[in-house]
Amino acid sequence: MDILNRVREYREEESRLRWEGTFGEYLEIVKERPHVAQSAHSRIYNMIKDKGLTEKNGRKTYHFFGNDIFGLEEAVERLVEEYFHPAAKRLDVRKRILLLMGPVSGGKSTLVNLLKRGLEEYSRTDAGAVYAIKGCPMHEDPLHLIPPHLRKEFQEEYGIRIEGSLSPLNTMRLEKEYGGRIEDVLVERIFFSEDKRVGIGTFSPSDPKSQDIADLTGSIDFSTIAEYGSESDPRAYRFDGELNKANRGMMEFQEILKSDEKFLWHLLSLTQEGNFKAGRFALISADEMIIAHSNETEYRSFIANKKNEALHSRIIVMPIPYNLRVSEEERIYEKMIKESDMADVHIAPHALRVAAIFSVLTRLKESKKQGIDLVKKMRLYDGESVEGYNQVDLEELQREHKDEGMSGIDPRYVINRISSAIIRKEVPSINALDVLRSLKDGLDQHPSISREDAEKYMNYIAVARKEYDDIAKNEVQKAFVYSYEESAKSLLDNYLDNVEAYCNKNKLRDPLTGEEMNPDEKLMRSIEEQIGISENAKKAFREEILIRLSAYARKGKRFDYNSHERLREAIQKKLFADLKDVVKITTTSQTPDENQLKKVNEVIARLIDEYGYNSTSANELLRYVGSLLNR
Ligand SMILES: Nc1ncnc2c1ncn2[C@@H]1O[C@H](COP(=O)(O)OP(=O)(O)OP(=O)(O)O)[C@@H](O)[C@H]1O
Ligand SMILES: [Mg+2]
Repeated sequence: MDILNRVREYREEESRLRWEGTFGEYLEIVKERPHVAQSAHSRIYNMIKDKGLTEKNGRKTYHFFGNDIFGLEEAVERLVEEYFHPAAKRLDVRKRILLLMGPVSGGKSTLVNLLKRGLEEYSRTDAGAVYAIKGCPMHEDPLHLIPPHLRKEFQEEYGIRIEGSLSPLNTMRLEKEYGGRIEDVLVERIFFSEDKRVGIGTFSPSDPKSQDIADLTGSIDFSTIAEYGSESDPRAYRFDGELNKANRGMMEFQEILKSDEKFLWHLLSLTQEGNFKAGRFALISADEMIIAHSNETEYRSFIANKKNEALHSRIIVMPIPYNLRVSEEERIYEKMIKESDMADVHIAPHALRVAAIFSVLTRLKESKKQGIDLVKKMRLYDGESVEGYNQVDLEELQREHKDEGMSGIDPRYVINRISSAIIRKEVPSINALDVLRSLKDGLDQHPSISREDAEKYMNYIAVARKEYDDIAKNEVQKAFVYSYEESAKSLLDNYLDNVEAYCNKNKLRDPLTGEEMNPDEKLMRSIEEQIGISENAKKAFREEILIRLSAYARKGKRFDYNSHERLREAIQKKLFADLKDVVKITTTSQTPDENQLKKVNEVIARLIDEYGYNSTSANELLRYVGSLLNR
């Protein structure tokens, strides 16, 4: 891609989209495409809706958020259905400040940023087009030009209800620049841009003593008072506060509950009546969505304060909890790593998974349900099947604790610990154990983890470690067995011959000497024991195998290694047990013989080619599994 070409294309696109005309001409557009006159809330809702949604297992994924926000389908669904949608329909929630409440680095800012970036893009499409009075610092809605006494008629003809009155500045401009002829007032298409301060604003409280309300509502421009003769001349006022600039779009109010009350009172009237007071002017109408975010502790102390009572009813709180699904958590880390300067570091398979297991465990709450421990709960939440439990149980679990996901380890902590693990290692390659170790070491330094929690978390590290041990063994086992496909086949054939002879009470013939022999009980048992088949159960198992075997024969199908799941597992394990010795050589100083060395190299090559390891992490894996087997 030629970057300069793309820049040029973008510029051309910009001028192609640009439109300027009189109010009279704008009305033609409104007639044809009434959606250009929709409210800010409605535009935001349509932006989300237009991207579509997928429904799976009763869970809706809104594509608008789906590629960047993981595991929060329920929270997002609630947000859309209980806020964005009714707000778009001009229902009462629109008049409230939307407060996203959730634990640290749980994705609140990410969500708000998605809305902002989305709006910038959407305003460049036909469906999301926005028009404004030209030259107005607040990008005022041109329909405000229609005088109040004609609005009813307008609504009948156009089907659009106009809210809000013409601002003091434009009232004056209409008189002075256009001689009162509204049809001549110039209108232009605008494009939302946070950088250019069009339709998107961010307010962040600084030191309460020094912060000026002007940051929110604009201020008098003293240098022009002389020119206009009076402080109450709207031309002597700079409408450049965040509330002004965010008109028609949205404003993010960061750390809302930390900010000084006087800022909040302005929002009260804005959200409730759709207007706010600035300077010595009549009220200024504004149409914008206000989104704030905060954490639970702050929110609780805010509502505990009687003084804030009037504000409560004007705030609608939407919880944004942590994700509780391990595989989604993995995706969060992958995304964060991709966006960071660690993108080139080799991260061994399962490293992020064990970190995710740990984080999710710290967020889950113990269930009172019989037989459910945290690990089982974690698996059920992640959509795995757990014997003895079904969808109904899952839903019951999810309903058990209202505040689940509001505490625990945050994704940013994990990413920080991963990066510190990388720094500590000489090679740019880290594995699951490095990550777990680093997560553990960091617990002491984490400012907001109590001693009690730290102890609990240590336990979860151990649980994650155990999960990893199983995964690691399994992985090496698979890699080994694959290299021994031939051995697996002959072991299977051998076993089947013996089972057949055993069930039919026949003898076997030695292929070399032709001598008759009894079925090799020791061989059969050594395989069956791998999957815990007891002496008493062996007969039934062998008969089951034989039935399967003849069913295959009848259909002319070949019975192979994959035809019986448990048998396959048994064969794999048996082979692996035989190969333990080979693994062990990687952990001891013993010099391997040539044959063993060849096998080890084959397995390493396979781990690299097929399983996503590099040579460092593959060797580390083998060494680790070797040490596990030595225990
Ligand atoms: N559910 C999630 N899906 C995708 N990314 C997430 C999720 N939760 C957290 N993240 C990632 O974690 C990081 C921190 O998230 P973000 O800054 O949005 O959190 P926040 O809730 O605003 O936190 P804070 O309270 O500290 O401001 C971001 O990189 C974000 O992408
Ligand atoms: Mg944030």
